[in-house]
This record gives sequence, C-alpha cells and structure tokens, in this order.
Amino acid sequence: MVAGWEWDETLFAGTAAHYRRGRLPYAPGLADVLAEALGLDGRGRLLDVGCGPGILALGLAHLFGEVVGVDPDRGMIDEAGREAAKTGVGGKIRWVRARAEELPADLGEFTVATFGQSFHWMDQDLVAATTWDMLRPGGALVHISDLKTETLTVDGLPHPAVPGAAIDELVGHYLGPVRRAGRGVLPRGTPGGEAAVLARAGFSGPRRLVAPGAPPLERTVDDVVAGVFSMSFSAPHLFGARHDAFEADLRRLLREASASGRFSERPPGTEVFVWRRGTSRR
Ligand SMILES: C[S@@+](CC[C@H](N)C(=O)[O-])C[C@H]1O[C@@H](n2cnc3c(N)ncnc32)[C@H](O)[C@@H]1O
Repeated sequence: MVAGWEWDETLFAGTAAHYRRGRLPYAPGLADVLAEALGLDGRGRLLDVGCGPGILALGLAHLFGEVVGVDPDRGMIDEAGREAAKTGVGGKIRWVRARAEELPADLGEFTVATFGQSFHWMDQDLVAATTWDMLRPGGALVHISDLKTETLTVDGLPHPAVPGAAIDELVGHYLGPVRRAGRGVLPRGTPGGEAAVLARAGFSGPRRLVAPGAPPLERTVDDVVAGVFSMSFSAPHLFGARHDAFEADLRRLLREASASGRFSERPPGTEVFVWRRGTSRR
C-alpha cells in the first residue's frame, strides 16, 4: 500500500459508533445518478467493498436483487447489520467481515462493485485484479468519494463554520504532528492514483459523474465530536487513557467557537468514477 505503513485491524477501531452521525451525507441524488448511468433495474448483485456501517449498501439496495457488504472492522459490520434490520431492504443484504485482499471469498459474480472512500486503504493492484474477476462482463467498478474541489463556505447560513483548523491542531497536540493510521503513521496521507491502478487491471473508462451535495445542515457539538471520532486519524483508540481529556478539550473548543453549540455546514457533492469491465483484459 504505502511504503513504510502496514495495514492493521485497529485502523477504524471504535469509529463505527460515531460514523453515521458524524460524517456528512453523500449527495441525496447519488442513487438516481448511479441507477441511470448503470441502467440498474432492481436486479443484479452489488458488492460494496469497505462498506463501513453500510451507508452505500443500504442506500443502493433498492437498485439490486442482492447486496454483499464487506468490511474488516467488526464494529462497522455490526453497525451495518443493526441498521439493515431497521430497514425494509435488510433481507437482501449479507454482511461479510473480511479485508478486500481476502476476496473473492466464494461470494460469486457481481454486476457492480462500489468502493466508497475505501479503495485507498487497500492493496490496490491486488484488489483491482480480484474485483475484475468478480464482476460479470460489462459490469462496473464504481469509485465514490466526497468532491474535494468545491469551496464550501457558510456565508449566508445562520451558524459559524466548524473550526476545522483548530480541531486539527488539538488532534495534533494529543497525537503528534504526523497523521496516525492504525498502529502506524502516514506522513504523506493516503495514496491517490487509483486511475492508473484500475487501467492497469484492465478496466476501461472512467466516466466521471458528480451528484450535487445535500442542502446546508445544522450540526450540534455532539455531531461534530462524532465526526472527529469517525476519522481513522482521530479514532477513539488512538487517544488511549487521554480519550476523555481530549473529548473535554474538543467540546470546550467547540463551545468557544459557537456559543449556541450549533454549526452550519454545507455537505460536499459526491464524485463518482465508473469503470467498466470488458470481456477480456486489455
Ligand atoms: C472511510 S470508511 C468508508 C465507509 C463506507 N464505504 C462509506 O462510504 O460510507 C472506509 C472503510 O474502509 C474499510 N477498510 C479499510 N481497509 C480495508 C481493507 N483493506 N479492505 C476492506 N475494507 C477496508 C474500513 O474498515 C472502513 O469501514
């Protein structure tokens, strides 16, 4: 993956409980955009790799006959299962605790494989090649992430912005200046370059689609705290015995930034890259 960094199972440890509340939502039109681009009609099989608490798998399940969500984090898989039980689509979803590197794991053939902000955590060449083999001819590998190129100000909104720079500084004060990731560190962040990897694996494309972000949100201190603990680089376990002290400092910082304890936030758009699997590797 990244030279000098080794994946370990603590990467997202303890984040699952905070994830759904803390993370900003994907674009509300994402499912419709995918349905149209991929011609989805309620049949076919979806493989959601690095599914986390099941946000994409559950949000796209109505477009497929069957869904499999795969994630190595026990908390994420448990959370996904609990959430699925509350919905009407839970019956067609199976949750598998595994790393993407352990696929195909006898899961069968798929129409679509989604990777929602997860591919950068994987042995990309290995996983791209395995996914190619797991997709049916004409199937699609879909890379989904927050759009990073928008300027999202809170101008005209009722509350102050989340004080991102001050939060980063506080995290750095507790965990050190270098980005943490599981038991290791990532001085240069996570790798990009998935386009070259996917082309190398034989996929053609990509077709880029953007779904506009959700309307502005009002977020509470609890929401923002959950957002911080949902991130791999500030996952609860990283703070060890200083977890409660960090949380108290974080809440103080947020109260100082907003006397009402409310923040405004504009969710980003969602950027999608659709890669096609042809009949034979190029
Ligand atoms: C940022 S979260 C994204 C969750 C979900 N896909 C979403 O879009 O809401 C990244 C997820 O990738 C999972 N992950 C990390 N390394 C992985 C690997 N090697 N194989 C499969 N999943 C992995 C993590 O456990 C985590 O749940």
